[in-house]
Amino acid sequence: MLDQALGRFGHDLAIDLGTSNTLVCVRGRGLVVEEPSVVAVERDGDSMHVVAVGTEARRMVGRTPEHIQAVRPIRDGIIADFALAEVLLRTAVEQALGQKPFVKPRIIVCVPVGTTDVERRAIQDSARKAGAREIHLVGKPTAAALGAGLPIHEASANMVVDIGGGTTELGIISMGGEVVTASIHAAGDHMDRAIVAAVQQHHNTLIGERTAEEIKFRIGHALPAADSPPDPAAVRVKGRDLGTGIPRDVAVTRATITHALQPVLHDIVEGIRRALARTPPELCADIYDRGFVVCGGGALLRGLVDFLRDATGLPVIQAEDPLRCAALGASRLLDDPETLQRVTANA
Ligand SMILES: Nc1ncnc2c1ncn2[C@@H]1O[C@H](COP(=O)(O)OP(=O)(O)OP(=O)(O)O)[C@@H](O)[C@H]1O
Ligand SMILES: [Mg+2]
Repeated sequence: MLDQALGRFGHDLAIDLGTSNTLVCVRGRGLVVEEPSVVAVERDGDSMHVVAVGTEARRMVGRTPEHIQAVRPIRDGIIADFALAEVLLRTAVEQALGQKPFVKPRIIVCVPVGTTDVERRAIQDSARKAGAREIHLVGKPTAAALGAGLPIHEASANMVVDIGGGTTELGIISMGGEVVTASIHAAGDHMDRAIVAAVQQHHNTLIGERTAEEIKFRIGHALPAADSPPDPAAVRVKGRDLGTGIPRDVAVTRATITHALQPVLHDIVEGIRRALARTPPELCADIYDRGFVVCGGGALLRGLVDFLRDATGLPVIQAEDPLRCAALGASRLLDDPETLQRVTANA
């Protein structure tokens, strides 16, 4: 009763603490925070001082003096630095709620596939310290499936593939439970690293990961250009010449990038295949008919949907708002206590 009353007046939150981005939705207000998951800290011996969080900290990546570090506390989808992940969480809650709220919020946090009990407790501790009165953890695939509008309660296969920054998370959900899950170590960050390596190899020039990501946004494509003569799309990027050590700019072509991305894309397909190989036959039959939904920022790579369709032979649907799918899905649970109970009991 009391909780119901508090729920009505409080500002409940759904949080997706991703490798690349932290998103917060407030019940009744929708998405209110969308910031890079980066914290810049100044270390002095054992003491640590937070210099910046989010967009400002991200601008510092690769540009900090020795005593300042721009850190991404979540690596490969899992929390690598708990103290700094806590800073991210606290900052996100403060940004979402402004001043200290009158009533402590209920908070739903999306957790990646394979989160251990120790990690769960650490996330719960952090959320409590950030001011939560009640914490629920929900699997990212379930949140993403809800965000994509899939009927997860039905006794049928609802499959999502969330291509984030650090990992590709796969889930096949039936009757509100995650029947098959997989965490594939191939996603956006791996694409960026592959681009750094390709520019080094082709142009003998070292670029930063942020520049690599910029190239991916501008000319990245999963499929080779069909036109002949080959698509001339190219971007000029700046880096350091590894021969002379001096900054220079080079023209990087779409073909170079498409070629560089292939091993990462094949790892994703291989992960999908392995997950399907462990899927019960009835659910496989559903997936044959209905295919799967792709979401996460990686789903925005041009040509990716067609690439996955070709590689798997299955119908592939891109979620409507890939970067926000999991956060929006989790926020739906704030209004639906029955489903919340069901999916967290299964998580
Ligand atoms: N238009 C685009 N084309 C290609 N990649 C993109 C595009 N937009 C974003 N990305 C990539 O998507 C990734 C971030 O996606 P997202 O925000 O879903 O990840 P995350 O949820 O923070 O990470 P994770 O789920 O792995 O913890 C980054 O690697 C980014 O470069
Ligand atoms: Mg994500």
